[in-house]
Amino acid sequence: MKFFIDTANLAQIKEAQDLGILDGVTTNPSLMAKEGISGDASVIAHYKTICDIVDDNVSAEVIATDFEGMVKEGEALAALNPKIVVKVPMIKEGIKAIKYFSGKGIRTNCTLIFSAGQALLAAKAGATYVSPFLGRLDDISTDGLQLIEDIRLIFDNYGYPTQILAASIRGPLHIVACAKLGADVITAPLAAITALLKHPLTDSGLATFLADHAKAAGK
Ligand code: E4P
Repeated sequence: MKFFIDTANLAQIKEAQDLGILDGVTTNPSLMAKEGISGDASVIAHYKTICDIVDDNVSAEVIATDFEGMVKEGEALAALNPKIVVKVPMIKEGIKAIKYFSGKGIRTNCTLIFSAGQALLAAKAGATYVSPFLGRLDDISTDGLQLIEDIRLIFDNYGYPTQILAASIRGPLHIVACAKLGADVITAPLAAITALLKHPLTDSGLATFLADHAKAAGK
């Protein structure tokens, strides 16, 4: 399973990269705004910096919502660095744009997926990734993990190569559940990823080992 970090915060991206487990980064306009990145030039510069930190898979979102605008923005984003994946919203014009980008060999991430039908359409158009937002579904008392399971079944039924990028992850249990369901990728905040490290028995076990080692060495 690939691990992406869901942030535009450079320190957190570096920390995840240093851990040696990072396969990519997802950002969105809200995450950019949270870091105080505004204006086209700053956003572009930020994407370039992120590309310098990680090995591949930097999702860069188009702002346009019409086909021509998405194509223009997406081609410009893709030209920044081969690591860029153009992030396109799940709307009618977005599906047309994904089909266009797919024909040009430009990788895409279809974002804001909330139903299996939307994921099917994006896969049919040739999306590289689909991003079902499971946390936001959970927030409205709908089973986000069920959506991951449904999309997995549909993609496997037809052999669609589109990868399931489980997004809007809220914590470590979401990550483990997505792994059990066969999501290809998760994108999560750093805290959810590092929470996977933690277990109280690991901490107490290590403390005992170190204490016994010191005692045996007469320290
Ligand atoms: C995915 O690419 C989105 O950036 C993200 O996962 C949204 O998650 P949120 O519900 O935490 O905003």
